[in-house]
Amino acid sequence: MNLGDDLPGMDPEAPVFEVVAFAVNGRRASVVVDPRTPLLYVLRNDLGLKGTRFGCGTGQCGTCTVMVDGRPQASCELPVSAVAGRHVTTVEGLASGDRLDPLQQAFIDEGAGQCGYCLSGILVSAAALLESNPQPTDQEVRAALDGHICRCGAHTRIVRAVRRAAEGARA
Ligand code: FES
Ligand code: FES
Repeated sequence: MNLGDDLPGMDPEAPVFEVVAFAVNGRRASVVVDPRTPLLYVLRNDLGLKGTRFGCGTGQCGTCTVMVDGRPQASCELPVSAVAGRHVTTVEGLASGDRLDPLQQAFIDEGAGQCGYCLSGILVSAAALLESNPQPTDQEVRAALDGHICRCGAHTRIVRAVRRAAEGARA
């Protein structure tokens, strides 16, 4: 038998646990997991960050969106190993302590959302947009949120809230 051969009876698909270290919302995180585990599960189950939600699990709805090094990404299909050494921002990272981010406040002020299930992913994508483009047009907001599904049909108010936050930042 050569080194590296599977032992008899060993399942080659069996999880091999590793340490994966990255930053979440400005803090260092280190977890021992199967590196193939989706980032979403690690955030919710290992790190207790329940704000990021499971929707479709197949990268289609945007509910699980987080920022990785400032860029929105679906965390349901992203293996945690892909964020090793990188910076992840979840919806919990938008507020400063007890103070809501102006974007979150604008969503409240506009009543943007009904059940709220889609909103954590949408807020993260909107925050990434305003970071790179502080004064987006309606069309740019719609394009940035294109991958997000809101089953309650709150799209118009959501776009209005993002524009409101942008206008507030300009004032
Ligand atoms: S849960 Fe990740 S895109 Fe739907
Ligand atoms: S507010 Fe209910 S899914 Fe968007």
